[in-house]
Amino acid sequence: MRLARSQLSARPLSNTSAPQDTMAGRLNHIAIAVPNLQQATDKFKAILGVHVSSPHALPEHGVTVAFVELPNTKLELLEPTGDDSPIANFLKKNPLGGMHHMCIEVGNVLGAVDRLTTHGVRVIDPKPKIGAHGNPVVFLHPKELSGVLTEFEQV
Ligand code: CO
Repeated sequence: MRLARSQLSARPLSNTSAPQDTMAGRLNHIAIAVPNLQQATDKFKAILGVHVSSPHALPEHGVTVAFVELPNTKLELLEPTGDDSPIANFLKKNPLGGMHHMCIEVGNVLGAVDRLTTHGVRVIDPKPKIGAHGNPVVFLHPKELSGVLTEFEQV
C-alpha cells in the first residue's frame, strides 16, 4: 500500500524493527526554571497544596533543585547556581521563570539516541550524562519537538 507523504512523515522514526524500549514511555517530570527557589517553594505549597522537598544542590548541573511529587508525575523547580548555569540564559529571557523541559522515560537511552540520530534528529549531547535521579539522560534540541526541550531518562 502506498502512503501519502504526510502519513509517511507521521510514522515513528524507526526501521520496522526498532525496539519498543527506544520509544517514549511515561512522563517522568516537568522542570520549571525559577529565579528564587524559596519563593517558588512557598508559592507552590500555598497555591497547589503540595509538599516540596528540601533544596538539593547539583553543582555539576549548575542548579539547585526542589521536587514536587504529584500523584502521577513530578515537578522539578530549578534555580541556577550562577551565571554559568545552563538555565541562567533561560531566566534572562523569562525573568518570572517558566517551563524549562519535559522529561520522558525510555527503557534504552543509547538505543533511542541511535534511532533518532540515524534520522537526523538533533540530540544536544548524544553521550548520556547522569541526571538528577542518578539515571542516564540525554536532551533533544527544542527545535525537534515544537520548541520544548525534551529530556529522555533511562529507567
Ligand atoms: Co529534568
